[in-house]
Amino acid sequence: MKFSLSKFLWFDGKIVPVEKAKVPVTTHAIHYGTSVFEGIRAYWDSKNLYVFRLDEHIKRFRKSGKYYHISLNFTNEQIKNAIINLCKKNKMKKSCYIRPFYFVGEHGINLHVDEKSPTNVAIFMFPFGDLFNKKGITAGISSWRKFSVLSTPPQAKMGGNYLNSILTTQEAKRNGYDEAILLDILGNVSEAPGENIFIVKDDKIVTPPLTSSALEGITRDSIFYLAEDKGYQVVIREIARSELYIADEVFLSGTAAEITPIVQIDQNKIGNGKVGVITRELMSDYTDVVMNKNEKYSQWLTPVY
Ligand SMILES: Cc1ncc(COP(=O)(O)O)c(C=O)c1O
Repeated sequence: MKFSLSKFLWFDGKIVPVEKAKVPVTTHAIHYGTSVFEGIRAYWDSKNLYVFRLDEHIKRFRKSGKYYHISLNFTNEQIKNAIINLCKKNKMKKSCYIRPFYFVGEHGINLHVDEKSPTNVAIFMFPFGDLFNKKGITAGISSWRKFSVLSTPPQAKMGGNYLNSILTTQEAKRNGYDEAILLDILGNVSEAPGENIFIVKDDKIVTPPLTSSALEGITRDSIFYLAEDKGYQVVIREIARSELYIADEVFLSGTAAEITPIVQIDQNKIGNGKVGVITRELMSDYTDVVMNKNEKYSQWLTPVY
């Protein structure tokens, strides 16, 4: 991932130069992963910068902390304005990735975090293009399982949860794949380390339910609308590992990955080994939506300028 941080970030209510935002080494989140984050994209269409589904991201941002009684001590409106103002301050005129996060700060080292534990909030951003090769990637099914709600809630976008994603990504890369696919504790398909997964079989689009420990992705939700517009049936149901190998098409969805086709899983070619017809259609429709070329979904875009 290219990572050239823009000049300013937002830290506890103020826009400051990146190098001025510092936290003590005793920060609780560094020790225990008690941080909450979102990943948001904004798209530049050569006239304006549009933040995609900002309200939904901010809603999930607050909800993630609730699972752990970690407080976000700013209103949704304040976070929204902070993101827009930070884009302006950085004179951002390129498509970019925006990372808001909050974390338990000077709480001490005990584990009894509650609503009163002190938290810090920060937002940074950087210009961002494609995360993956949009012509299709390879994926390996991980020997690590996706953690389940029996241990920590998969719906909380918490720093600590991503240790599972790190293990699976390391394994996939070591084995020569671009990305990992995780099964849930029962052996059903769950998701990728930072993306939801869809399969296409006989023109039907299928994705795992949240009970398969998949995150309730905002891109996943957007795909439901786009697929319906095109008359495709989307089914949410458990997916067996074996179904992946014989699917006509497989793709990932996520803010960073957008819609990314998978053309090989383990040693199996998916479909004819090229980007599938439905995947291509959804990719194109998704691009139209984020670039403000589909009026029906213009309410999903927050213009910055
Ligand atoms: C584990 C995981 N699954 C799925 C997704 C996709 O979610 P979204 O489409 O909201 O970015 C993400 C990214 O946020 C993720 O981290």
